[in-house]
Amino acid sequence: MTRIRIRQPDDWHLHLRDGDMLNTVVPATARSFARAIVMPNLKPPVRTVSDARAYRERILAARPVGSDFEPLMTLYLTETTTVDDIREAARSDCVHAVKYYPAGATTNSDSGVRKLERVFPVIEAMEKHNLPLLMHGEVTDADIDVFDREAVFIERHLDGLRTTFPDLKMVLEHATTEDAIEYVQSAPGPIAATITVHHLLYNRNALFEGGLRPHHYCLPLIKRERHRQALISAATSGDERFFLGTDSAPHPKHAKESDCGCAGIYSAPAAIELYTEVFEAAGALDKLEAFASLNGPAFYGLPVNDGFIELEKRTWSMEQEITAAKETIVPLRAGQRIGWRQSNG
Ligand code: NCD
Ligand code: ZN
Repeated sequence: MTRIRIRQPDDWHLHLRDGDMLNTVVPATARSFARAIVMPNLKPPVRTVSDARAYRERILAARPVGSDFEPLMTLYLTETTTVDDIREAARSDCVHAVKYYPAGATTNSDSGVRKLERVFPVIEAMEKHNLPLLMHGEVTDADIDVFDREAVFIERHLDGLRTTFPDLKMVLEHATTEDAIEYVQSAPGPIAATITVHHLLYNRNALFEGGLRPHHYCLPLIKRERHRQALISAATSGDERFFLGTDSAPHPKHAKESDCGCAGIYSAPAAIELYTEVFEAAGALDKLEAFASLNGPAFYGLPVNDGFIELEKRTWSMEQEITAAKETIVPLRAGQRIGWRQSNG
């Protein structure tokens, strides 16, 4: 197959940042995706409906002319989030989910939750008001190997949450392990997982290929090949519990190529094309639409998009660097070839 047409996709996990950076990052996503679940880990975080409304307006102002890209906002769950915050969020037409970060897990997560039980009343309100909980599913204890953080989170917390809040909609964001896939496939109740394109494309060797590769550093870390294979099987299976979430997370080049580099991979400029590469390699191009465009809206209870996009099998090269707000960002696959190209939009 050299050309495919799919219903317009959505990105169910995206970092857009703020300020002038939006003028570069928003068009990169709006090029392909109709909607995106926008992560709230700004500094300070997006904690209330009014923060989310203001951030949404800044995003809308950065859309390219004629774009009707729709940012779906989220709130950052802190230990001071109240049941009233949740009620207000559920009533709003702007906030679609609440994001849980364990304190210290990743970029701008110091306001995150230290003890999960402390936010149980708030999670109960989310269950009652049908507001999904999006989880950065990692434990951060210093004695846990960083490659095991996700598996330990599942064991210690996820099952307990599932049993305590049986009707809560939960998304295990950026699933990276076979353990996560198996859990999500078999758990009772409304649970799903997003899968990034970098976790589908690379295993952990890519972090050390000929030297230390900061542009392959993200959290959760990319894992062993057997985990990558499990992610590919899940993404290409058509199973409704798995859908597209890029976790595209731009950082300035100097902040990544540093003594203590930031976690985050900027995949938005070629996200849909790279996912297409993965599905082609797996012989599953016919399952791309379910993963990218159908399963996410079904989980969130939203309609599928009206439009379509076309992808052509045509090789092109990603730019080495992208200039954004006086900064330089190195995108995923910088200076390298990509085998598919979106031909409309
Ligand atoms: C994200 C970021 O930079 O905001 N980084 C990342 O490696 N994925 C935060 C996150 O989602 O963990
Ligand atoms: Zn993220």
